Amino acid sequence: MADVHGNAHALDAVLNDMDSLGLSPAVNLGDFFSGPLDAAKTASLLMDRDFPSIRGNHDRYLIEQDPSNMGPSDRVAFSQLEQIHLDWIASLPETQTVFGDVFMCHGTPRSDSSYWLEHVEENGTVRPATLQKIEVQAIGVDAKLI
Ligand SMILES: [Fe+2]
Repeated sequence: MADVHGNAHALDAVLNDMDSLGLSPAVNLGDFFSGPLDAAKTASLLMDRDFPSIRGNHDRYLIEQDPSNMGPSDRVAFSQLEQIHLDWIASLPETQTVFGDVFMCHGTPRSDSSYWLEHVEENGTVRPATLQKIEVQAIGVDAKLI
């Protein structure tokens, strides 16, 4: 899973569905909280599960930026979180390999804030990236699944 962005209701539904299907564990690719929904409940659900997790760019902003400099989606999530939640973010790696050959990253292996499968043109238009540009980003990552 990735980009829960504070949607605790959807996360709860997914977790219940996973439980009913006997699916576990998941991996969590970050951007857990930022948004106007329910960051604290989302944190409680995710921390209870303790899935292999990495932090995303918005999670990083929550522990690196002063709230007065945050964008609105980060600031509202920050206002809902407790120190224990911020400490949990700080404890997470930016990337990690789990289950032997599954590489986890948010964005690309080298940047948590870059698009990988899309190319953003100067005018803001988003288009699919070429296969060559996608493959270049994977160079040096020794994993069967990224
Ligand atoms: Fe992100």
